Amino acid sequence: MHNETLTTSEVASLAGVHRDTLLRWLREKAIPEPSRDHRGWRVFTSAEAVAVSRFAETGSWEQPISPNGPDHDIAKLHNIDWNFESAKTRYLTHGMHPYPAKFIPQIPNALIQELSSVGETVADIFCGSGTTLLEALQLKRNAIGIDANPLACLVSGAKTKALSNVELEEVGEHLELCKRLLSSLQADTGDMFFSGEIFQSEGWRPDAKVTDFWFFPEAVEELAEILLQIRKIKSKNARNLCLSAFSAIIVTVSKQDSDTRYVRREKKVSAGSTLSRYISQLASAMGAVLELGDLIEDRFNCEIIHSNILEAPETDEFDLVVSSPPYPNAYSYHLYHRLRLIWLGFDDQVFKQAEIGSHRKYSSKGKNKATSETFANEFSKILMWLKPKLAQGRYACLVVGDSTLDGKRIDNAQLISEVAKPLGFVDVDRIERQIAPTRKAFNPKIGKIKSEKILILRNGG
Ligand SMILES: C[S@@+](CC[C@H](N)C(=O)[O-])C[C@H]1O[C@@H](n2cnc3c(N)ncnc32)[C@H](O)[C@@H]1O
Repeated sequence: MHNETLTTSEVASLAGVHRDTLLRWLREKAIPEPSRDHRGWRVFTSAEAVAVSRFAETGSWEQPISPNGPDHDIAKLHNIDWNFESAKTRYLTHGMHPYPAKFIPQIPNALIQELSSVGETVADIFCGSGTTLLEALQLKRNAIGIDANPLACLVSGAKTKALSNVELEEVGEHLELCKRLLSSLQADTGDMFFSGEIFQSEGWRPDAKVTDFWFFPEAVEELAEILLQIRKIKSKNARNLCLSAFSAIIVTVSKQDSDTRYVRREKKVSAGSTLSRYISQLASAMGAVLELGDLIEDRFNCEIIHSNILEAPETDEFDLVVSSPPYPNAYSYHLYHRLRLIWLGFDDQVFKQAEIGSHRKYSSKGKNKATSETFANEFSKILMWLKPKLAQGRYACLVVGDSTLDGKRIDNAQLISEVAKPLGFVDVDRIERQIAPTRKAFNPKIGKIKSEKILILRNGG
């Protein structure tokens, strides 16, 4: 983003203050953090150095303007190969939980690096599994995530929280307990947890209408037992990590066909295999969270808000939005996640009503059938809410694909851009990217989605 850079000492000297004073201002967040170089040392642009000098004189901070103008920042985005064909996408906690249409971390990573600075706040207004939030934190930005899906909020929280030693110990003890449960089940030793041939858990389970249709009895008992043990964990962070691992295995141990197909398929789930899957899922989640401890600093905040965006949730202001919104007819998250939501005790019906773009709403036969106009109106409302929260002159990057509605192709980037303009947003760029064949999203109406666009809107002229 910057050409010439200055060190902390150089900036302090230009501003006529001691280096320690400048460091104190940064610590106290009186002025925002600059970027860091490959050694982790602070580097200020000349515009930031001028803003620091002004702060030294006046005591108030004015956002520096890029010397090259906003168009320069956007032009730089074209030096990036957005297809990220051979990129590794499951590093840190990114692979912790499946989530349909989650974007690859390289997309938010590049946008955050190019369009924001260290210490600023990045929002994902449809945060899903928290990909943007984790990238923002590891790039030393604050993060705000919003989602109407309670499961998305649980997973985003687990994915972005570094656990304390005490919390990790609690997870470790729970893991050991699960291993003992599994070996007693396999050995059928009739010990304190399992006696006789058929293991019965005392734990809560969903209504039999759900369990009989969607699960083998062995899986139901083991899931109920795992949940019973998780509920005994004292620390919320430790418990949420375990709940996220629990949720991650549910589709695999059920008869649901796959993460993006809500139809029943007979599959064999043998005794012990549910516990065994849970143990390995949790062990790898724990390993990933351990790595977070070294990367994420406490001074960067991550707030996750469970809300329907159309209900205008309260948030602090932010400097950049990186989000992949739901769009017409593409997915039905409330269905793909239904079994998980039910096992976790969440209200899947509330989310079903709130969900934007769901296949259910766009394929309905009744007079309430949603159309592209429905989506345009919803987006207009969202952008009206967003406008005063996104800093003036800053960007909202929205990753969207096309939809097919009643056989007609809808260019969602174009549709969003059209509703954004009268609200005072400028459509500064659209970057088209190909989705890797292995990641192509399945859509029952339009088959495989092969490409998507990154629409970049600037707040104000
Ligand atoms: C494409 S996904 C986001 C995936 C995310 N980028 C990731 O990497 O995991 C879109 C998200 O929008 C959420 N959503 C749908 N309707 C919503 C609404 N009315 N309010 C807030 N979130 C909503 C869905 O729950 C889903 O998580």
